[in-house]
Amino acid sequence: MGYKIAVVGATGNVGREMLNILAEREFPVDEIVALASRRSMGTEVSFGDTTLKCKDLDQFDFTGWDIALFAIGSDATKQYAPIAAKAGCVVIDNSSLYRYDPDVPLVVPEVNAEAVDGYTKKNIIANPNCSTAQMVVALKPLHDRARIKRVVVSTYQSVSGSGKEAIDELWNQTKGLYVPGQEVAPSVYPKQIAFNVIPHIDVFMEDGSTKEEWKMVAETKKIMDPSIKLTATCVRVPVFVGHSESINIEFEDFLDEEEARDILRESPGILVIDKREPGGYITPVECVGEYATYISRIRQDSTIENGLNLWCVSDNLRKGAALNAVQIAEVLGNRCLKKG
Ligand SMILES: NC(=O)c1ccc[n+]([C@@H]2O[C@H](COP(=O)([O-])OP(=O)(O)OC[C@H]3O[C@@H](n4cnc5c(N)ncnc54)[C@H](OP(=O)(O)O)[C@@H]3O)[C@@H](O)[C@H]2O)c1
Repeated sequence: MGYKIAVVGATGNVGREMLNILAEREFPVDEIVALASRRSMGTEVSFGDTTLKCKDLDQFDFTGWDIALFAIGSDATKQYAPIAAKAGCVVIDNSSLYRYDPDVPLVVPEVNAEAVDGYTKKNIIANPNCSTAQMVVALKPLHDRARIKRVVVSTYQSVSGSGKEAIDELWNQTKGLYVPGQEVAPSVYPKQIAFNVIPHIDVFMEDGSTKEEWKMVAETKKIMDPSIKLTATCVRVPVFVGHSESINIEFEDFLDEEEARDILRESPGILVIDKREPGGYITPVECVGEYATYISRIRQDSTIENGLNLWCVSDNLRKGAALNAVQIAEVLGNRCLKKG
């Protein structure tokens, strides 16, 4: 016996990856439905060797469905997630709407799988921001060994993190720069993204940071440990898929770079690629379509007593969104919604 699964936002970047990952991991599915807006009714999406025709979310009845993987924006989630949850279907949500709600667990299975049990308060589980997900996978095993005091992180985030229109903008703007008359003005982003970097993701906050930076702080505290101090600078770069992060960590206890490398090698979800030679590290193009969070450039920070630097790369549509959501569904199935 398997589960009845709804993929909500099945025509989007994250929704399509959810369908791919459910099939790849042979998630025990009895019945699956692809949902999107009315404009996509009948649009075909792949699920393993089969194709599904999208249905209109607005007309869908979630009664009798076990799990809904949501990958639509916060506004639409606000409208539809409570309807699904009330019908008895557990929502695993990718938007930021419920992440900071104390009655909704925020889960990265490698870090806090047991938090899934708290889903019963609202029948909703939240998935973190893509930049947070890969970072906490890297931080958790090091925190367990040497207690993290403070983290300074700079991100290099791909355009797929802003949805399918952003991918088109980078593609068309890049081509347009070479073809007179086909120039593409910034639309999704406030400045040119082709051959450029933009130090601004999401809205500005009162203190001068951006909401994306604030999310990394708040989510790390909720998932890992409220005592960790974190400061972030989030930057959009002209990469299609794959987020990269430069992470500086200050610990309570001394942690040798060799031991850190060994700990990370043994930790779930992580692959260490760290040869000190040209090409002996990972770049975003190599992480596309993969499950792992890759760690490279592990080295001591000699400017502080107990410090390390590292480079962290992962597929933002997978570990940052779809894979994490499917992993949550697996944990939910194993711990709480057993079948068969
Ligand atoms: N991309 C990432 O790295 C990432 C990471 C973590 C979280 N997220 C979050 O995941 C969500 C989806 O992101 P995405 O990158 O997949 O976006 P996307 O490529 O732009 O796709 C959006 C999806 O939402 C559907 N949708 C939008 N409004 C809807 C409505 N009113 N009713 C029903 N369906 C609606 C769209 O359907 P139509 O095609 O019919 O319009 C489409 O399937 C967002 O909340 C995003 O913040 C994304």
